[in-house]
Amino acid sequence: MNSHVLPIYNRAPIAFERGEGSWAIATDGTRYLDLGAGIAVNALGHANPELVAALTEQAQRIWHVSNLYQIPEQEKLAELLVANTFADTAFITNSGTEAAELAIKMVRKYWSEQGDPERIEILTFEGAFHGRSTGAIAASGSEKMVQGFGPLMPGFRHLPWGDMAALEAAISQRTAAVMLEPVQGEGGIRPLPDADLRLIRELCDRTGALLVLDEVQSGMGRTGRLFAHEYAGIAPDIMMVAKGIGGGFPLGAVLATEKAASGMGAGTHGSTYGGNPLACAVGAKVMQIIAAPEFLAEVNRKAALLRQKLEGLVAAHPSVFESVRGQGLMLGLKCRVAPTEMVRAGYAEHVLTVAAADNTLRLLPPLIISDEEIAEAVVRLDRAAGRLDG
Ligand SMILES: Cc1ncc(COP(=O)(O)O)c(C=O)c1O
Repeated sequence: MNSHVLPIYNRAPIAFERGEGSWAIATDGTRYLDLGAGIAVNALGHANPELVAALTEQAQRIWHVSNLYQIPEQEKLAELLVANTFADTAFITNSGTEAAELAIKMVRKYWSEQGDPERIEILTFEGAFHGRSTGAIAASGSEKMVQGFGPLMPGFRHLPWGDMAALEAAISQRTAAVMLEPVQGEGGIRPLPDADLRLIRELCDRTGALLVLDEVQSGMGRTGRLFAHEYAGIAPDIMMVAKGIGGGFPLGAVLATEKAASGMGAGTHGSTYGGNPLACAVGAKVMQIIAAPEFLAEVNRKAALLRQKLEGLVAAHPSVFESVRGQGLMLGLKCRVAPTEMVRAGYAEHVLTVAAADNTLRLLPPLIISDEEIAEAVVRLDRAAGRLDG
């Protein structure tokens, strides 16, 4: 197909015209079981009736007013985010990348306001993904992402993933912040042990460095808690959120403590669309649904069911898969084949999955997937793997 769109994506030859819960329906009518959920975005499934109602109700009232005025829907979303997390304040964005940009700016501004504007070094980890802006690619440092886009924004130092000795050696009273995903997503569904997250918190406390967690992919119930860091019993100073929070509508947020956000006064940041009534009306509904303890309990029950079936799948196809990893419904199958081959075999069996780095196939189903759909998903994955056996 000739396309007029900038050719930066390797797209599959499938177009979807409709969705229903865990199913995405292609233009030719084929129904695909969606274990990608738009890369962890459609947390409540496609065309969720409660979200459709929230969006259309808002669409009939007012779409956009700008941040020149009070926006009650934005206030409501921020209130829900603050009430359910460590945060004292929230800035609403349209994406994860914008959240990462603000998080980086907030760190710099914090130290500047503390009278230490030279304290800009942010420690990050290899395999990280924080978006594609100039700041976010510098934070990641991945060769593939930064090549040809230099000179990069200074101030990032990249450490081997999960290497606590390297972190202990690198962190000091000159460190501005440590920034990481508690479970690396694009990096291949790599969870950091709770003990390591606690140690990072301790090292930050000892040196004064701010702890910035990127929960764009791991947040909003994906791992079975509202945010993945809750498992470790710690709290960050700043956190990025996006993807699932909009349930498919573009939305993100930066959450922060009063102290970490103390440099961000009037005029220091802004956005035309960030916090618009449409996105916030949807986001508030998503928050109300996902933050409910009964909802998260269901995610955990289903996650255990899926994981158990995936262990069986791995055992049945030792030449295709090596292991299962991840947390909640943020799961990865470490492959012995290229994960893109599994993604393609999945298309043939009408099941959608997503490849990631570290030879991992990602399974990020909608959090509302049913037990029957989980069983059906594993049947389809089994058939797809059968195409690659041997
Ligand atoms: C952990 C993480 N941070 C940031 C981003 C960037 O988010 P967005 O694509 O919404 O800008 C992503 C996107 O995949 C992500 O997984």
